[in-house]
Amino acid sequence: MCGIVGYIGRRKAYPILIKGLHRLEYRGYDSAGVALINSAGQLNVYKAKGKVSELEAFAADKDIDGSIGIAHTRWATHGEPNTQNAHPHYSESERLAIIHNGIIENYAVLKAGLMKEGYTFKSDTDTEVLVQLVEYTQVNKHVDLKTAVQLALQQVVGAYAIAILDKTHPDTLIAARKGSPLVVGIGEDEYFLASDATPIVEYTDRVIYIEDEEVVTLRLGEEVDITTIGNVQKTPEIKRLELSLSQLEKGGYPHFMLKEIFEQPRTLTDSMRGRVNVRQDNIALSGFIDNKDRFLNAKRIIITACGTSWHAGLIAMYAIEEFAQIPVEVEYSSEFRYRKPVINKDDVVIAISQSGETADTLAAIQLAKSKGAFIFSICNVVGASIPRMSDSGCYTHVGPEIGVASTKAFTAQVVALTMLALCIGREKKTISKEQFVSIVRELGQIPQKIERVLEQNTRIADFAKTFTYTQNFIYLGRGYNFPVALEGALKLKEISYIHAEGYPAAEMKHGPIALISHEMPVVVVAPHCGTYEKIVSNIQEIKARQGRVIAVVSEGDVQVRKIADYVIEVPATEECLTPLLTVIPLQLLAYHIAVVKGCDVDQPRNLAKSVTVE
Ligand code: G6P
Repeated sequence: MCGIVGYIGRRKAYPILIKGLHRLEYRGYDSAGVALINSAGQLNVYKAKGKVSELEAFAADKDIDGSIGIAHTRWATHGEPNTQNAHPHYSESERLAIIHNGIIENYAVLKAGLMKEGYTFKSDTDTEVLVQLVEYTQVNKHVDLKTAVQLALQQVVGAYAIAILDKTHPDTLIAARKGSPLVVGIGEDEYFLASDATPIVEYTDRVIYIEDEEVVTLRLGEEVDITTIGNVQKTPEIKRLELSLSQLEKGGYPHFMLKEIFEQPRTLTDSMRGRVNVRQDNIALSGFIDNKDRFLNAKRIIITACGTSWHAGLIAMYAIEEFAQIPVEVEYSSEFRYRKPVINKDDVVIAISQSGETADTLAAIQLAKSKGAFIFSICNVVGASIPRMSDSGCYTHVGPEIGVASTKAFTAQVVALTMLALCIGREKKTISKEQFVSIVRELGQIPQKIERVLEQNTRIADFAKTFTYTQNFIYLGRGYNFPVALEGALKLKEISYIHAEGYPAAEMKHGPIALISHEMPVVVVAPHCGTYEKIVSNIQEIKARQGRVIAVVSEGDVQVRKIADYVIEVPATEECLTPLLTVIPLQLLAYHIAVVKGCDVDQPRNLAKSVTVE
């Protein structure tokens, strides 16, 4: 939700800020803006509705001079996405400008107080309230900008990553965070600031991750200064970035989403590297090994996540209950955090998050932690808030996922969770040696098997055209492939704006069957597994009502092939690993339908990749 970038140094700030905004556009893209202090000491703010390219067009003939600046790409929370509500926002005197990612929950009270003092507001945003509060504090308490920011933030309830410019101090950039991410990049005589490291990576690999309630002052010629909002001095911890520029580019693919779908054989190899040892029939997961007892003594495992990550959690429920025989509950983080859940000290809570910044998941683990539960996280972004707040965890190591619709992160989450389920099961002896070995060997085969599924891309693209004008889809699956049905439906909704529902196949009789007609395509995930015969019957029921069936089946399937309208084959594998193969055609189907419909695949309307507001 919203991307922020800042620069202070000797170069021209504007091109660096714009390039940074493009990298962060996945976080929100309904409006964008930039603020620069030029060599004459003027603070210029330019904003435009729409994507960063609109801002570039708008600013093309403006004064974009300056070696210090801040910029923002927005995902609207308070106030509709228009130019007025776009960031940066000026303070009353137009001496300060601010950008903000997060939500100031008590903004209405703060705003009323400031209005009484004669402050006027040009936007509907919570952010403008914050910059006014900083200026008010500075003027009335006669303090410097850093102190004013600290004092203002002490009054704020909510989440923020902010950056502020003061035109009377063109050598200083001040930023702070609580709940929303913020990274500082340290160059030669220059500093960078961003929501994540992607705008920084081409200039430096030295970064500092700012912690909650910290205020950072970046001043040319001086070391980075970090204090808490209560003015306690902190020592900056400089880390090395492990991110390369090529990971952030499309590499010849028309969209990041397609690139990321095709990357999956490699990303899963990376996820398993050093963990799955096929030659020794072994899995070593350090986050598990170091905390074995917590898992072995767990009476229950609670999985908390949102969106696609929640679907990975649902698959994990099947695997953990089957192999480790520990009861599992899978919770939407947003429900879990507010429903006064019973959490015990011997519960293990697994948080799943690609970004590691999802506000609801973060709050869910905060709650579980406060009740003494052990927190294990599965995350992709190294150093993000969720892994930092967890007791232990496992990174998925798939590299940056830029397409808003999650693909490679999902399959890696499933692999990580399957490895965990197998490790617990082996330690508890609730899985037989033979089954353990067989699954480990199959895990090693998964990347090549995904390659085989990807070979059907052109055929999927061909029949996707048939569905350009379709309004509704149903997705069905059973067992391990029920969550895959949900995930397939979600992919289609997210990027093609077609209404799609995922159901456990047997539930069809309890309602959705009423929707079946020749106009309703039904995607059925039906690989060879325990419930195969049952799902064949479900397909018969659909065909009997003229539904059009797209079936994902195992190679060599005979029964479904006879009745389905379109068939996509996946290689045979262990049942618990089938989601890693069956989800691939569903990702491709959604992708190609969105492309033929002319949708913005990588940045679908209204969505954002990183949901840092609840
Ligand atoms: C957003 C993204 C989804 C993602 C979900 C959870 O909705 O668009 O792709 O699955 O957030 O995000 P997380 O980073 O916690 O996995």
